[in-house]
Amino acid sequence: MCGIVGIVSSSRVAPKLVRSLLNLEYRGYDSCGLAVCNNGVIDVRKDKGPVKQVSEILKFNEMNGMIGIGHTRWATTGAVTRENAHPHASNQGEFALVHNGIISNYRDLRQMLESKDYQFLSDTDTEVLVHLIDFHFRSSGDLEESIRRMSRDLDGTFAFAVISVHDPNHIYAARRESPLIIGLGINENYIGSDYNAILDYTRNVIPVKDGEYVVIDREAVSIRNLLSGEKITRDIVTLDWDPELSQKGGYPHYMLKEIHEQPSTVESALKVDIEKINLVCDWILNADRVYLLGVGTTYYVAECVQYYCALLSGRHLIAVSSDEFEYIAQLSDRSLVLAFSQSGETYDTLTALRYAKKFGARTAAIINVMGSTMVSETDLAIMQQSGPEICVLSTKAAVAQITIAIRIALELGRRSGHLTGSDYDSHLKSLAALPGMIRRVINESKGFVNNLAQQTQSYRNWLFIGRGIYSAIAREAALKMKEVTYHHAEGVSGGFMKHGTIALIDKSFGSIFFLPPRSSIELFQHTIANAEEIKSRDGFIVGFGFGERVGIFNHEINLQDSDQISAPVLLLVLGQMFAYYSAVILKRNVDRPRSLAKSVTVA
Ligand code: G6P
Repeated sequence: MCGIVGIVSSSRVAPKLVRSLLNLEYRGYDSCGLAVCNNGVIDVRKDKGPVKQVSEILKFNEMNGMIGIGHTRWATTGAVTRENAHPHASNQGEFALVHNGIISNYRDLRQMLESKDYQFLSDTDTEVLVHLIDFHFRSSGDLEESIRRMSRDLDGTFAFAVISVHDPNHIYAARRESPLIIGLGINENYIGSDYNAILDYTRNVIPVKDGEYVVIDREAVSIRNLLSGEKITRDIVTLDWDPELSQKGGYPHYMLKEIHEQPSTVESALKVDIEKINLVCDWILNADRVYLLGVGTTYYVAECVQYYCALLSGRHLIAVSSDEFEYIAQLSDRSLVLAFSQSGETYDTLTALRYAKKFGARTAAIINVMGSTMVSETDLAIMQQSGPEICVLSTKAAVAQITIAIRIALELGRRSGHLTGSDYDSHLKSLAALPGMIRRVINESKGFVNNLAQQTQSYRNWLFIGRGIYSAIAREAALKMKEVTYHHAEGVSGGFMKHGTIALIDKSFGSIFFLPPRSSIELFQHTIANAEEIKSRDGFIVGFGFGERVGIFNHEINLQDSDQISAPVLLLVLGQMFAYYSAVILKRNVDRPRSLAKSVTVA
């Protein structure tokens, strides 16, 4: 969702704010703006459009002042217009504010403020915040008190940052459910909606928790409770992310770079502390029910993990999309919820975890972003150490999560006796070989996948089909395809396809089949039978599989033979590459597809 940054320094902040906005753009990219305070005046410049363009036209870099805030927007309330872009200023220009989140009672608040002659210039919920601060400041004359009062007026979620001519040396910021962090520099300090806002300037950060507000100047930061005003002390976290990793490093797109980084993210995932793996296994074995949670790509990660656990440990863990969890989960204090989240901030997953806690359930999560809300709120956080993932589409983070979960499934299988000692050893060997196999798939299949994408660019409708775990892979590959090409792509299991979806098939329809290695002979044959069914209805069929040519497909890409552990992951990588090359040919905005955001922090 929207990106927020604030910098207070001993030198001009505008150039750094622009750099931060460029790094934050993956969170939201329909409009952007800056507010910088100088000599008792706040200069606000903003418009719709990407940061580079808006910043050049409005000359962001020339704004003078040593304190400022910035915003990249992913529209929720109010269309994509200049007026709705942030920052929003109060009527006399004494306050400027940026916000991420949704204020659910903004209509009532707006009515109240309009009755007191506040003029609204936008359709956003955010504008209410800045007028409310102004309103409370007029009676209290105290900015901190005004922010506390304003927060009490608000229903909904927020992270906001505000600057004021009344206190031109401090940035004030607060959070309720939307993410916020503090960055500590030398002679300057920062606030941000996530680490990418400040990674170019410092690695020393302090996560802000729900219900807290912060006041920063260039030398000090303080954190307090929004309700009580009580001071809070919190340790500094030092990020070990290399800022280089946030750059494209010679690749045309982050998506391609991150696909190429998968061998090393799998290697890092394999280094996860075995004690943590063992602890999750203890919890799974003692639980009455185990739910696997995620949403978007991470839901498909949960689905894959569900199949791996069934196969390797004989256990049925229940994959549920986080957004539907409350409506279906049956929880007790003996339940376990294991969530997957790249950002550690996704609203739906966070809400589901909090819901589970109410029943006394245990919570664990596999997370990429250090210091994120889920890290502090779950009973056990397993850090996947994949480095920053910038492309809105998740690739390397998802594959790393699957790797860690396979490790968990193998331990479960060994402990429960579902796997023999020699099966366990050979699966562990396959897992260790996975980074090398992924590297080979990427290097050797690039040309073939690009060629396929060229040939199929006119197909606007796709089915992605698999059986067993390959149906989960097909659903994730279809999600990638639709996110980045905007073409219709549906992932469906081979058996299910016959019960309705097949009615769509004609010669304008493309279908991609995810075939298991021939060692899973029954699964292979059933999938081939499904491909024949589509072929006999004039559908264009593509096979992604292993070993020798099958011969029935219009187009085939066959990888070197593989095994039960690595085959699904390797086909997922092929699916990612097909989506990528198709999007490049169609000239799509690969790293920032329309309407999407990397970290979805609203309901
Ligand atoms: C958004 C992103 C997806 C991501 C999902 C879950 O929809 O576009 O790429 O998989 O959120 O995000 P999380 O950070 O919890 O993994």
